[in-house]
Amino acid sequence: MTEPFYVTTPIYYVNARPHLGHAYTTIAADVIKRFYTMITTETFFLTGTDEHGDKIMRAARAEGLSPRAYVDKISDLFRQLWPQLNISNDYFIRTTDPKHIAVVEKVLQKIYDKGDIYFSEYEGKYCFGCERFYTEKELVDGKCPDHQTEPEVIRESNYFFKMSKYQQWWTDYINRHPDVIRPERYRNEVLAFLREPLEDLCISRPKSRIKWGITLPFDQDYVTYVWFDALINYVSALGYPDGGLFKKFWPVAQHIVAKDILKPHGIYWPIMLKAAGIPIYRHLNVHGYWNVDNSKMSKSLGNVIEPLQLKNVYGLDAFRYFLTRDMVFGLDASFNEEALVNRINSDLANDLGNLFSRVLTMAHKYFQSTVPAIDSNIEEELSLGLSQDAIQTIDAFAANMEVFAFHKALQAVWEFINRLNKYIDVTAPWVLAKNKSSRKQLEVVIYNLLEGLRVISGLIYPVMPDTAASMQKHLGLDGKDEFYKMEKLKAWKSLLPGTRLPKTIALFPRVEMPEMGEANQGERNKPGLNPPLGKEITIDQFTAVDLRVATVIKAEPIPRAKKLLKLEIDMGEGRHRTIVSGIAASHSPADLIGKQVIVVANLKPAKLMGVLSEGMLLAAGDGKQTTVAVLDKKTAPGTKVS
Ligand code: MSP
Repeated sequence: MTEPFYVTTPIYYVNARPHLGHAYTTIAADVIKRFYTMITTETFFLTGTDEHGDKIMRAARAEGLSPRAYVDKISDLFRQLWPQLNISNDYFIRTTDPKHIAVVEKVLQKIYDKGDIYFSEYEGKYCFGCERFYTEKELVDGKCPDHQTEPEVIRESNYFFKMSKYQQWWTDYINRHPDVIRPERYRNEVLAFLREPLEDLCISRPKSRIKWGITLPFDQDYVTYVWFDALINYVSALGYPDGGLFKKFWPVAQHIVAKDILKPHGIYWPIMLKAAGIPIYRHLNVHGYWNVDNSKMSKSLGNVIEPLQLKNVYGLDAFRYFLTRDMVFGLDASFNEEALVNRINSDLANDLGNLFSRVLTMAHKYFQSTVPAIDSNIEEELSLGLSQDAIQTIDAFAANMEVFAFHKALQAVWEFINRLNKYIDVTAPWVLAKNKSSRKQLEVVIYNLLEGLRVISGLIYPVMPDTAASMQKHLGLDGKDEFYKMEKLKAWKSLLPGTRLPKTIALFPRVEMPEMGEANQGERNKPGLNPPLGKEITIDQFTAVDLRVATVIKAEPIPRAKKLLKLEIDMGEGRHRTIVSGIAASHSPADLIGKQVIVVANLKPAKLMGVLSEGMLLAAGDGKQTTVAVLDKKTAPGTKVS
């Protein structure tokens, strides 16, 4: 019996919309969870939102909402994003959940009763942006390193957690279990912190200053410091202290965080666990930061990457593959769209996509769309060690996945893909096909190649679950029964001769940089707009176009019209309209349902592929890489747009 597996992401602050950084950590957690489903039966994957504190209160005020309404709204953005990125979390925790609050109170009371929390007056330099006190040493030129503002001197009585008491214990623990924090650079960083005397942690905030938090169970005038509240989510979600989930999953807990929150996870949290009498997590896995074109992602630079936009243009699996393949877990990486396009074209379209279509085209052509039989008398000599290579690939993949070296795990798979591409060149099936006497050889070669594809479909499952399922389907398998289980992948010769192969598809079509496509090359160098600016119109001509807000109620493909989607929209007219839109290449129905769009409402109705369209959706692009104009705030359907 293999052990269960438990993985968590940080719970994200709800003061900003989800961006590429959040998507990366959550996809990494999804990849590792799916990997563990290949080798074990019980897994649990937790993500959620961190909703208390001053920062959130101020963000709510800025939007003119109550903290409760505001946190509900942003938390929902995260919750709704994850299924669209194929995130398979088992639970979504919110720190405003009553169950979480009860556990935070319980843990606080336990540590307080033990004597590890004390009351004291404190004067210090406080950064309101970070919601924490800074020591002189931490400040850069007297300013907060994150906000570049001078912290204010605040004097107040507060509750403190005796972290210093556990400093030696935690240092010794890390030295005895060196991989508790990985990769190594982050363990060393934590050990470096621990070489300096550890200050006790201020874990309360007076209600006179901050009200949006969990009241201390032993003093009604204070709320809990957000970090003390948030970290506890990892056990409260499992029903600590009694839940069956807690008993099963806590002993195998693994956290994933980026380097920005190493200190709370690498120091506060283990010490809180120790003080509360809870065992320490098994691993803290720390990754680096995604920058964009080598600069920090930030609102003010206007370079914040929205995960859904990329998914809509390049496809979900390609996006997931790029993130997992291009970041060396632990180091920073730079996001750039050209690198994404290059990866898609070289690894996905050329290597994997070509292999898949070469092999299936031959199976369809030479064996009437069925898996050929395999003659064991000649098998060995013609297999050229492929089955051993497959096993070695699976082992290398697994060994790297276990230590979060995703890029190396994928490299191992791609070496196998290239090995299969070479196998085709060496065995030259098209030559074998010319001669009746080499029919048996041809059977062995094509069978082996199909088996190779079956193994690959399992190995890419954690990173590209949809593509894995599609490969299975085109290998004549139903993609059910957990095809990605390690023991199944290792069972070479699982494909049943005679199995029918459905009509094949292109797994990954080649893509072009939106503004660098060959067709645009000439245009790119010309100044001005492309296509050129239209003829001037008067304001009356513009206002003749009646633009209205509409909510998409339903969306579905139109049979035999690959480019079109049929939408049912609500424009507040007391009936729903149907409109047909040429956005099927870039949008799936699920991308649109619930979205608020802009519609040309007084356009003369027209029939498209037999469907009467009563209006037109506003969208940017050329039909291939289209972006639909959606509203950024909820607006009453039927509102005029001008
Ligand atoms: N609420 C705290 C975490 C509490 S956990 C008990 C918090 N939230 S956050 O919204 O700021 O999320 C920080 C995390 O988001 C990072 O640790 C990382 O997982 C992810 N990322 C945010 N920006 C990122 C990049 N630019 N690059 C990679 N990941 C980043 O801190």
